[in-house]
Amino acid sequence: MTGAVLYGAPAPGLVDIPAGAVQVSPLIPGSQDLAAMADGSVERAVVLAPGGVIERDYVLAQALRVLKPGAPLLAFAPKDKGGGRLRKALEAFGCTVGEDARRHHRFCQTVRPAAPARLAEAVAAGAPRLSPGLGVWTQPGVFSWDRVDPGSARLMGVLPALVGRGADLGCGLGLLAQRVLASPAVTALGCIDIDRRAVECARRNLDDPRVEVAWADVRQGPARGDLDFVVMNPPFHDGGVEDKALGVAFVTKAAAMLRRGGVCWLVANRHLPYEQALSAAFESYAVRDDGQGYKVIEARR
Ligand SMILES: C[S@@+](CC[C@H](N)C(=O)[O-])C[C@H]1O[C@@H](n2cnc3c(N)ncnc32)[C@H](O)[C@@H]1O
Repeated sequence: MTGAVLYGAPAPGLVDIPAGAVQVSPLIPGSQDLAAMADGSVERAVVLAPGGVIERDYVLAQALRVLKPGAPLLAFAPKDKGGGRLRKALEAFGCTVGEDARRHHRFCQTVRPAAPARLAEAVAAGAPRLSPGLGVWTQPGVFSWDRVDPGSARLMGVLPALVGRGADLGCGLGLLAQRVLASPAVTALGCIDIDRRAVECARRNLDDPRVEVAWADVRQGPARGDLDFVVMNPPFHDGGVEDKALGVAFVTKAAAMLRRGGVCWLVANRHLPYEQALSAAFESYAVRDDGQGYKVIEARR
């Protein structure tokens, strides 16, 4: 039996977090997986609901599934990121909802009904699946879960056959990594992502002895300065908010992971200001492709 679960990282003071609450967000490395918890095994749930509808309903359904009948659920979200639709989402599961608003968020209090409606349906809709279109395992909520990201496609279009040992930082489902592994001269590829769902899909999509996939924050990982190459489509959102420093941190980390002369291939939205970080961390860099709002950069350590 688990006392309480917490999904997500609310701003300090926004909600009361039960003492000893177990973190269950897939975006926090080391957290537990709600999907692996037993039915009716949790006393209380506090959920910072994600904005995507399929992902949100999956998380709410999983939270209701693991709660004991009658146990309290607090679900909340920023008003402009799905907060206004939370009440209806919970009512669709048969919940009676009390709602209030403060600090630009909507808060919905409910208890787990004795017989919630459509749980299995919402869990099935948000579960990992093999996408016939993409040809890989994916899950709603993962970055670009139902299409090839146009920036990554642009990078794949100009990426040469790489050689030696490398890393894919923020590997997502592993589509870019699949492209890298097409080169037989690649001997090892470390793939890192902060999203457990992406990591689990990437492990299935990259069934190759040269690959090691890690669920980790790139900013906190080791940098031994011995890799031959890094590829990446760096994130620039943290918790749904644009964070240019995150992309800059990826650029700096990539340089620290490379040996002298090692190469980093990255793609970025044209408006992102990575040039200063590239100049500071790399010996040289050049734009190899530019179009549709993206720039592909080759940087040499
Ligand atoms: C722009 S997406 C690229 C995904 C994938 N490479 C592709 O091409 O489809 C950036 C990825 O970085 C991951 N990410 C975000 N912040 C991270 C962090 N601090 N450490 C590791 N991965 C992170 C996201 O989960 C996302 O999968």
